[in-house]
Amino acid sequence: MRLVFLGPPGAGKGTQARELAREWSVPQVATGDMLREAVTNGTPLGREAKAFMDRGALVPDDVIIGLIAERLAQPDAKRGFILDGFPRTIPQADALERLLGELGVSLDRVIYFDVAEAELLRRLTGRRFCPACQSTFHVVFNPPKRENVCDRCGSTLVQREDDREATVRKRLQVYADQTAPLLDRYRKRGTLTTVAGEGKIDAIHAAIKKAVAG
Ligand code: AP5
Repeated sequence: MRLVFLGPPGAGKGTQARELAREWSVPQVATGDMLREAVTNGTPLGREAKAFMDRGALVPDDVIIGLIAERLAQPDAKRGFILDGFPRTIPQADALERLLGELGVSLDRVIYFDVAEAELLRRLTGRRFCPACQSTFHVVFNPPKRENVCDRCGSTLVQREDDREATVRKRLQVYADQTAPLLDRYRKRGTLTTVAGEGKIDAIHAAIKKAVAG
């Protein structure tokens, strides 16, 4: 099970990857989560990445590729993985192909989450996230049982720095310019499946499982 979840910011990649990774017992390799953890811990990677993330820009390819190479070499990735938020540029996709080639494996499927821009804005500006366990909620569409408290670990939920409207618009533009071109690449390779990313979370979960099975 080696999957890429591809789609614009707020498309629901993290929400679906977290559940499916648990269900399939493979790691969810989420570059955004890894970077946010590094920022929280004040590591050199975190200090380098923060300025890019806060303004809605992509972190440089060489930094991200190094991070992924290290992560995929870990034993728990041998059985498979869900890449959530990587690759996001053509050089990252090239690097992924090289890395997988070196490991003697290939991608099974790239799942593209198709969501309209107005819906992405609604989702991102209402998103709340748990800095302790990375769970994600939405004030209207997916509220926690207790206001501002994580259902999973009880920590206080926060709004991401980059979920303010001006930064969200910048991230959507960056996606259109740098990430959307990957769709054509994976379509031509026959590995792309488009899943309607709007609707009930459970229904999208089922649609992804069907796409992977089949
Ligand atoms: P990252 O954390 O990867 O952000 P993103 O791709 O912009 O994706 P999001 O986390 O915003 O959205 P998502 O699709 O996971 O949606 P979610 O499930 O949370 O990256 C952040 C930054 O890190 C980047 O800007 C960049 O600086 C850097 N970075 C990361 N990877 C990089 C890379 N490879 N290269 C360079 N830089 C990189 O859902 C969103 C909301 O909608 C939630 O509130 C959720 O509850 C709700 N929701 C989910 N599903 C539904 C549904 N079906 N109906 C209604 N609401 C829903």
